[in-house]
Amino acid sequence: MVKKNTCVFISGYGSNLKALIKSSRNQNFPINIRLVVSNKINAKGILYAKKNSIPYLIINTKKRNFESILLKEIKKYKISLICLAGYMKIISKKFLKDYGKKIINIHPSLLPKFKGLNTHRRALNNKEKYSGCTVHFVNSKLDSGKIILQKKVKISKNETETSLAKKILVQEHKLYPKAILKAFNV
Ligand code: GAR
Repeated sequence: MVKKNTCVFISGYGSNLKALIKSSRNQNFPINIRLVVSNKINAKGILYAKKNSIPYLIINTKKRNFESILLKEIKKYKISLICLAGYMKIISKKFLKDYGKKIINIHPSLLPKFKGLNTHRRALNNKEKYSGCTVHFVNSKLDSGKIILQKKVKISKNETETSLAKKILVQEHKLYPKAILKAFNV
C-alpha cells in the first residue's frame, strides 16, 4: 500500500497526534506522518514528534509570509494530506486553494452543532443530552466541511466542562483513525 505523506497541525497537548502516530505504525493504515506543524512554540504535542523522530516545524502565524514558508516546507515533504489535530487557527483561503479537499479536522462537538470555540461549555449551557466529536473535511467556512464520521457521547447529570472534554477526547482518539480509514482506504 502506498501511504499518504501526511502533516499533522497542532497547537496544544497533541493527544490526537499521539493516536494518529500509533495508528500510522500499522502497515495497513493509509497514512505516514512525515511532518508535524505547531503554531505554538511550547505545544506539548511537539514531544510526540520528537519521541517518534518525526520532523517538526514551529510557525509564527504573526509573520506576514508564514503561509508561503509553510507551503514550501509542506511541498518539500511531498505532503498530500493535512490532519488538523487541536490546531486552533483558521486555515486561510490561500492555503485551501493549494490543499483544498486534502485537509481534515477533528472537532469536539456533533457538528453542525457548536462550531468554533468553547464547545463543551455551550453544549452544557444548552442542556444537551448528547455531545460528541466529528471528523470532517475542511472548507472555507469554519467547521462546515463534509462530515466523514461522528461519535455520540452521552452527557451525564453532573457533567462538567472538564469531565465532558475528557470523555469526548477518549472517543476522538478512536474516531480520528477510523475516519481516515473510511476516507482514504481503497
Ligand atoms: C481536541 O478536543 C480537539 O477536538 C479540539 O482541541 C482538542 C485538542 O486536543 N479541537 C478544536 O477545538 C478545534 N477547533 P489534543 O491537542 O490533545 O489533540
